[in-house]
Amino acid sequence: MSTSGRSRNLVAGVDSSTQSTKVVVVDAESGEVVREGRAPHPDATSVDPARWWEAFEKATADGLLDGVEAIAVGGQQHGMVAMEADGTVVRDALLWNDVRSASAASDLVDELGGPQAWVDAVGVVPGASMTASKLRWLARNEPENAERVTDVVLPHDWLTGRLLAGGQDRPERWTTDRGDASGTAYFSARDDRYREDLVELALGKRVGLPHVVAPGEAAGRTPSGLVVGAGTGDNMGAALGLGLAEGDAVVSLGTSGTVFAVSDVAAADPSGDVAGFADATGRHLPLMCTLNAARVLVAGARMLGVDQARFDELALAAEPGAGGLTLLPYLDGERTPPLPEATGTLGGLTRANMTPENLARAAVEGMLCNLADGVDALRAQGVQVRRVLLIGGASASRAVRTVAADLFGVPVAVPAPGEYVGLGAARQAAWALSGGNEPPAWDVQDEDVEPGATPSEAVEEIRERYAALRVSRHG
Ligand code: XUL
Repeated sequence: MSTSGRSRNLVAGVDSSTQSTKVVVVDAESGEVVREGRAPHPDATSVDPARWWEAFEKATADGLLDGVEAIAVGGQQHGMVAMEADGTVVRDALLWNDVRSASAASDLVDELGGPQAWVDAVGVVPGASMTASKLRWLARNEPENAERVTDVVLPHDWLTGRLLAGGQDRPERWTTDRGDASGTAYFSARDDRYREDLVELALGKRVGLPHVVAPGEAAGRTPSGLVVGAGTGDNMGAALGLGLAEGDAVVSLGTSGTVFAVSDVAAADPSGDVAGFADATGRHLPLMCTLNAARVLVAGARMLGVDQARFDELALAAEPGAGGLTLLPYLDGERTPPLPEATGTLGGLTRANMTPENLARAAVEGMLCNLADGVDALRAQGVQVRRVLLIGGASASRAVRTVAADLFGVPVAVPAPGEYVGLGAARQAAWALSGGNEPPAWDVQDEDVEPGATPSEAVEEIRERYAALRVSRHG
């Protein structure tokens, strides 16, 4: 019972991300979070899906889901869960950030006739992260496992299936949604259909693919009667959780860095920088993704031997431009630009500028320059960006907020701290429960960020120096 005396309809949203499972239990009418649970995932780029289910069970232990009527799952995009007919996984799932499939991706691009052919077919150019590339990797490197595969699903599909099957190995039918399906490189968001010929190109055979549940529809019910919403990919979930409006672009700074916006038009970018994904409401979600975001700052703090709060102070104490230091932050290789084998580069070191303050500042500026290029790439796809919303772990950093407000060239706001992927999934659950045409309207508060005092010439110089270093190192 709420304080007003009305009984609440509770729904739950799950964010099964790279690092952990987070579950929010939410009042379906107001969007107020009433309970939360979480549990970590293994720190790896290939993971047995059973670990995600264990984390879900841990996160929901002690009655977290008591009274909940509907649930949906937002999950890390692209991961390949390859199974036999009885639901046995043939190997650990290869995740979006596993770059062993890089050369498989470039072969696929060539075999279909180049990047434009892929954009025409499915709105994306496969890179190492996409599911199709991982299927090709499997066919080439583990033919005996490839032989066993009868069904391929994504992480959120797999968890949704487990919910529907009450924790058993397989549901009656596997389901997905248009948003997550659009990250496979074998589903066209523009045409709303699978391209099974591209699965065949990648894996050498066709396999069972999950049924695409419409936005707002239910995937089914759990054996105990909970309505299970469609679920979606984590970026689509965040867009829905934020109730993203036209003109707003999200810059999400988590394990991955993403820049995305909701649009009526499918992106078609043969450079591959912007992927033509779908959102969770029947529209599109042009998106650019980098591999190096929040963890660049964690590594920077570790290198300087300080905690995150001190690292922030150091970055704010330096002058804009870090005294001429520039960091190309490709510490885990990079996805955009496509440099899977790259390492980071620190350019412009002198005896005078080699200070902890400048090193911290260069890390923040380098990470954000990569994402500012993403904002420009979205604009080049015709997306209006009038404001940037900063979310994800690193958006808590004052240095990140201030530098972002300078570098992005548009007003920057930070939504109230929240689990937006989980909230998006909860909104899908509430939508499926209500059977309405629209998801419920939940209010999201945000706070404007004061820009720093960096003059526009200095901003230009920082971005030019970054671009010049990238060209000199990587062409
Ligand atoms: C987006 C992408 C990442 C993952 C992170 O294309 O690969 O943002 O979804 O979980």
